[in-house]
Amino acid sequence: MLRHLIKNAYVVDPSTGLEGKRDILIEGEKIKRIGEEVFEPEAQIIDADGLIAAPGFVDLHVHFRDPGQTYKEDILSGSKSAVAGGFTTVVCMPNTSPPIDSPEVAQYVIAKANCWGLCNVYPAGTITRGRKGEQLSDFFLLKEAGCVAFTDDGSPVMDAGIMRRALQLSAQLGVPILNHCEDDSLAEGVVNEGEVSALLGISSRPPEAEDVLNARDCILAHYTGGHVHIQHLTTALGTEIVRIFKGKGTPVTCEVNPNHLVFTEEETFRTGSMARVNPPLRKEEDLKALRSALADGTIDCIATDHAPHGDFEKGRIEKAMPGMIGLQTALPIMLRLVEEGVIDMKRMVQLMSTNPARIIGIDGGTLREGSVADIVLFDPKREWIFGEETNFSKSKNTPLWGKKLKGKVIYTIKGGKIVYKDN
Ligand code: DOR
Repeated sequence: MLRHLIKNAYVVDPSTGLEGKRDILIEGEKIKRIGEEVFEPEAQIIDADGLIAAPGFVDLHVHFRDPGQTYKEDILSGSKSAVAGGFTTVVCMPNTSPPIDSPEVAQYVIAKANCWGLCNVYPAGTITRGRKGEQLSDFFLLKEAGCVAFTDDGSPVMDAGIMRRALQLSAQLGVPILNHCEDDSLAEGVVNEGEVSALLGISSRPPEAEDVLNARDCILAHYTGGHVHIQHLTTALGTEIVRIFKGKGTPVTCEVNPNHLVFTEEETFRTGSMARVNPPLRKEEDLKALRSALADGTIDCIATDHAPHGDFEKGRIEKAMPGMIGLQTALPIMLRLVEEGVIDMKRMVQLMSTNPARIIGIDGGTLREGSVADIVLFDPKREWIFGEETNFSKSKNTPLWGKKLKGKVIYTIKGGKIVYKDN
């Protein structure tokens, strides 16, 4: 049986409360032992001096564009980006072509991911057929086919009656509903509504577009008992809405995209269409509120919303497709927040591993002895450039393209196998 022995890693595992220098012995797919001095002559040694070991990161929000738009990304290039970013598990959004609204498409995603075996890829099924917002998908069949959540991501579910029914089913099945909260009748433009949209003279998406659906979904979750997970939260008021409902014991969780924690709408002046994302980059006061909510526990997890697009789709901002790639830049952004004292390392790992694993109820997000060996080893100080030579995605749409970043994944181990190693 294959054995690896990780020597002298600084382990950070919020699921067990462990923080300290340890050796980790992996036997086959599992963690066999964690201790201060572990010996195993048969094992292959991984020298982790100066590295932090954490449970493999879990991303509840990625777009792998497969099937249908594989010129932007596919399951192989997406999986490679994921493991280079330290993610051992991702949840694929269903806004593919065709969408993941049938067991056949869900099984295609799972089979293709298993064929490469780099990263655990779970599909999210659509809430409505064809993501049209009219008829509910067959949740029972989709769950049986391996879907771990339901969402029409990219588009909100505008009909409150359909959302209510979806949440009732969620309560029955124990599967979360992830909603992209932006009311179509209010969010028609390309950037946040405010000074930037006014100065550039371009159409906008005001924060209330997001807040009204966030509040509606919390209310519906409150009455139905279904688990709503608010995707990519961006507004100050949004953090308060979630906080209020959490205080009432409503089954609501939420995520934030790391880019919304470091960029404001002003990034549009610097990188133009690269800063275009839905929901949009907001104001300084929103960024500050998100950072506080990250620190006080209101935000459950970070999710990259890795949204690859081709160069030709990122031309003039008014016409540009929304979205940024984010799997390889998430860790450096989060480490910057640790360095700035917004959160500590333990909270960072909770946001990237422990909590997202819990939200979809998978075996992961922990380094307990006997658990599956999904592990990331990273150097929080290593500087590197995110560009042609380091990018694994087929796309390069991010304001961080060509920038120097601090914090690098050195090894990613999935089910006991090394699936990424930094050169
Ligand atoms: O900016 C975005 N792009 N937001 C989304 O919710 C969808 C995503 C995409 O699919 O490109």
